[in-house]
Amino acid sequence: MLKSEWLESRPLEHAVSLAAPLYTDPQVLALEQRAVFGANWQLLGPAAALAQPGDHVVGEIGATPVLALRSEDGSLRGFHNVCRHRGGPLAFIDGRGAKALQCKYHGWTYTLAGQLRSAPEMQDARDFDMARICLPAIRVESWQGLVFGALGEAPALHEALDGIAAQAPATFNPPLQFSRRVSYELDCNWKVYVDNFLEGYHLPHIHPGLNKLLDYRSYTTTLGRWQSLQHSPLEDAGGIYGKGGAFYWFVYPNIMLNCLPGRLQTNRVLPLNAERCRIDFDYYYAQGADPVRGEQDQGFSDEVQAEDAQICAAVQKGLASGSYVPGRLNPKRESGVHHFHELLREAYRKER
Ligand code: FES
Repeated sequence: MLKSEWLESRPLEHAVSLAAPLYTDPQVLALEQRAVFGANWQLLGPAAALAQPGDHVVGEIGATPVLALRSEDGSLRGFHNVCRHRGGPLAFIDGRGAKALQCKYHGWTYTLAGQLRSAPEMQDARDFDMARICLPAIRVESWQGLVFGALGEAPALHEALDGIAAQAPATFNPPLQFSRRVSYELDCNWKVYVDNFLEGYHLPHIHPGLNKLLDYRSYTTTLGRWQSLQHSPLEDAGGIYGKGGAFYWFVYPNIMLNCLPGRLQTNRVLPLNAERCRIDFDYYYAQGADPVRGEQDQGFSDEVQAEDAQICAAVQKGLASGSYVPGRLNPKRESGVHHFHELLREAYRKER
């Protein structure tokens, strides 16, 4: 499935893009669910959704349904959202103030610490020891008002996010308040969307409106171990955001933190199948922010997203056509894409 020539590491000046089958093969996606999504932190949602005991959010880490919750002792916890009876869900959707986690299928009930507490009509089951039945735990941590989860082998969260708060002080201090979530489904592999996010090379051709706000000539990309940052000075065109800087953070493998003055927009890119993905946009603003600015922000984001959706779907067709062989990357403009591809190649090599 994975040819060794696809996985060779190359310096940026000699870099080529990923091989087309990596964007189309369902077996590659199955591998990524385990070795990419399942081995790294995933953004689960706003910490405000877990303010009180029993508050919970549902999500997925790779192929594993998970939930994160505020426990009775005030700590954050997380579990597989997979009942130990026959695999039912403890929750379908986010919720508030649950006293316990009751499976939606047959009603087995777990404490907020994940311990099975009751199982209806099981008196005839021999050697059925409820004390030994628990939901498998996941790692859950919050950072700057965001909640992240990981299954086990991910690096420490502070390593994965290293340096982000320090470089975008106007956005992360003071903390912002969650406003809304807007989701989009796109006809492309999840990596096509991430690749597209990671370079400003396409700005003048695809995003005429956004290109007026940003300064293409001053656009820079900075690379870390697990993150990259694209930065541009920001013009105050139309007063939606004000003047300042645009910080577009990427946290491997699928998290984006888009910071403009007084506004944070988080993106998480989730595969739906090998050739389709969903992107969840969460919007955060300063307390008391003008709601009209929020509406303008939404309108402008929709416009940019429609432009990206169209080009990403066209790229997916090109990749699936049989015509494409890996092309050279632009060292000046596509170092973020190369960084992402090298992290993926590292994960693929480990799996082989
Ligand atoms: Fe959970 Fe049956 S699957 S109670």
